[in-house]
Amino acid sequence: MLISEAQKNGSKKKYFENILLFRKKKSITDLDLRNKRVLVRVDFNVPLDKHGRITDDRRIRFTLPTLHYLLNENCKIILVSHLGRPEGKVEDSLRLTPIYKRLKEYFPLNNILKAEECIGKKVKQMVKNLKPRDILLLENPRFYPEEKENDPEFSKELASLAEIYVTEAFATAHRKHASTYGVCNYIDEKGYGFLMEKELKFMSIIMEKPKRPYTVILGGKKVSDKLDVIKYLIGIADNIIIGGGMAYTFLLAKGYRIGKSIRDLSKLDEVRDYLEESPNFKTNIYLPRDVVVCDEYLYPKFVKVVPITNIEEKHVGVDIGPETIEEFKKILDKSKQVAWNGPLGVFENKQFENGTKEIARFLIEKKIFTIIGGGDSAAAFEKFGFQDEVSFISTGGGASLYMMQGTVLPAIECLSDKE
Ligand code: 3PG
Repeated sequence: MLISEAQKNGSKKKYFENILLFRKKKSITDLDLRNKRVLVRVDFNVPLDKHGRITDDRRIRFTLPTLHYLLNENCKIILVSHLGRPEGKVEDSLRLTPIYKRLKEYFPLNNILKAEECIGKKVKQMVKNLKPRDILLLENPRFYPEEKENDPEFSKELASLAEIYVTEAFATAHRKHASTYGVCNYIDEKGYGFLMEKELKFMSIIMEKPKRPYTVILGGKKVSDKLDVIKYLIGIADNIIIGGGMAYTFLLAKGYRIGKSIRDLSKLDEVRDYLEESPNFKTNIYLPRDVVVCDEYLYPKFVKVVPITNIEEKHVGVDIGPETIEEFKKILDKSKQVAWNGPLGVFENKQFENGTKEIARFLIEKKIFTIIGGGDSAAAFEKFGFQDEVSFISTGGGASLYMMQGTVLPAIECLSDKE
């Protein structure tokens, strides 16, 4: 029933229209940028350690081609990015100071400035004083409740800073916020940058005409994040491999005992429907056959591998087991393309990284075209040192899931149409 809805011809057509919408929108190369003031929405929501140091700056680095392009066009650049979730009030630990310092390293020859606010008189004055090729970084827009509320006045204020708007924030493209969406109502010329283009192209390549067999690996803790994606992937993907914390709700739905493993009881019926209906749509769903269990994640007294038929009350599932790894490899070996979102175990702990690492290594060794989405999966590839060997690692987690479920990305929807 749930899947039939998603499979209706009309909804499938809409699904692809939504995914490919960006082709109708202006890109940075369609904009007349010469000597202009350009507001660039970036997603510099980078991980910080406890000292506030950036631990992975890919989200900054990957926007450099766009920033250099704008500098070559003699633009005055105004950057806006959120950091974390400060919920509408100032949090000093979520100021953009570390990002400002990193930008200064990347642009030693330019004048890099940082505002203490995101909007207001002082910001306006700073913008007024900008010279061509200067870069001004605004303070975290999420310090203002108006940002998440997509408030028109806040959007207007932001828009008033520039003549042109460029979005590079793929990872936040699914949010209808003032700086990602509302601002577009008040600026005439708006397009997407090179990082955004690359992300959208990779996502559309795998979804529009998938090379078959097409296998999707889904993991991570929360089953609720991924269920809508599964609904749409059934009938599109040939195989869906499920691991990580979300696998335990699936195992429970199939009648297995899962001990103390993570579960989402509110989703059991939905999961049961997918498991029952997927064969009718020629999509195979694969679950773990054996799992690594322990008594607790942080300081386990025991860690062992058990078949899924033998999970006991005291067990917490933390990784896929060796038999499962072998089975998943066999499926992947036959696959022509793979999309992967969410780790297969608690990879942050070395004892539980094996499943994620083995599957990652296999995909790389076999040179299987693979797109990685989601901050945790990307972090796993970084941790294993595989980040440069896989076909593509998206900077977006939630946004790539939204795309896979055929939802229009608000940050794309609001851009100027190509003439
Ligand atoms: C992310 O890290 O996924 C993006 O920056 C979006 O962040 P959000 O989920 O807090 O909107």
